[in-house]
Amino acid sequence: MYGASDPTAAERTAFRCAEKQYKLYKPLNLKGRSRSRSKPSGGEGGGADLSAVVDFHALLAADGELPAGIGRRDCAGFDRPVFCFLDRPENPDIQERNEQNNCGGKMEYKYFKFVDSESQKGEEHRSTAATTLVRKLRWSTLGLQFDWSKRNYDVSLPHNKIPDALASLAKKMAIPAMPSGEEFKPEAAIVNYYGPRDMLGGHVDDMEADWTKPIVSISLGCKCIFLLGGKTRDEVPTAMFLRSGDIVLMAGVARECFHGVPRIFTESDQQEISALISQLSSGDDVFILDYIKNSRININVRQVY
Ligand code: OGA
Ligand code: MN
Repeated sequence: MYGASDPTAAERTAFRCAEKQYKLYKPLNLKGRSRSRSKPSGGEGGGADLSAVVDFHALLAADGELPAGIGRRDCAGFDRPVFCFLDRPENPDIQERNEQNNCGGKMEYKYFKFVDSESQKGEEHRSTAATTLVRKLRWSTLGLQFDWSKRNYDVSLPHNKIPDALASLAKKMAIPAMPSGEEFKPEAAIVNYYGPRDMLGGHVDDMEADWTKPIVSISLGCKCIFLLGGKTRDEVPTAMFLRSGDIVLMAGVARECFHGVPRIFTESDQQEISALISQLSSGDDVFILDYIKNSRININVRQVY
C-alpha cells in the first residue's frame, strides 16, 4: 500500500471511501478477552451492503444480458468467457497519477524482523511453530527481485526464474490482453498472503518499464472484494468479487488505475472454497487446507521489460 503526502486528503477520496465501506472492522478489543477467537462484528464492514459488488460468477450462471459497461469475450483456447470492463473513464493526466502513487515512496507492506542467534544470547529461547510463522508471512517474490525501499526492480539481486508451471499458466492467461503476435514474458511475481483482516490499500503498479503488457493476477483461497478505480483516487472504484481460481488481467487503461483489496471473506458460508476443500482433503494437504480456510493468496505475474 502506498502512503499519501496529505493523509487527510487521501482519507476523503472516493477510493478511500470505498475501502472504508467494504473493510472488515475489528470488533472492540476488551482487555482480558481473547483476540484471536473474537468474531468480526456484524456492524460496519462486517455487514456491509454488498449489493453493488460485481459478481462475475452470478453473471456467468445467469447467462443473460450483461450490466452496462461489462463485456464478454469468448477467446480461443479458453473454456470460459473473459469478462471485461468497457469504456472506463479515461484521465490523460498520467503525471498526476504518478505523483499520487509515489507520495513519499512509503509502502505499508509489513516487514518482519528476525532476531539472530547472537543477539538472543542469555534470552530465553522459545521455539515458534511453523504454522504460527507461516501466518506471519505477508508477501514473497518470485523471479526478478523488487527493492521495496527504492521501489524498483533490482536486476543485480540473485534470483530464480519464475517456476515453469506458473510461467506457462501466466503466458496462456495473458493472451486475451496481449498485443497481437506478442507473447507475455513472465519475469517477476509478487505473492500476497492475506489473513482474515488483511487488506491491500489502493495503489498503481507503475514500476514495470512496459505498461502495454498486462499483469496476470491469480486468486487462490478465500473470496475477496477487489476495487478497480481510475487513474486518480478521486474516481469512484468498481467493486467486484474475486474467488479462488479467478484471474484478473490488469491491462489497457486498467494497467494504470488504482486498485486494492479491502476485504477477504473467511466465514465458512462466504469463503466459497468448496472445490479446494475436496481437492485438499487427504495426507499433508490438510495442512494447506487448514491455512487456506483463513487465507487468500494472490500471485500477480509481471513482464517488467
Ligand atoms: C498487487 C495487487 C491484488 C490482489 O500485489 O499489486 O494488486 O488481488 N494484488 O491481491
Ligand atoms: Mn497491484
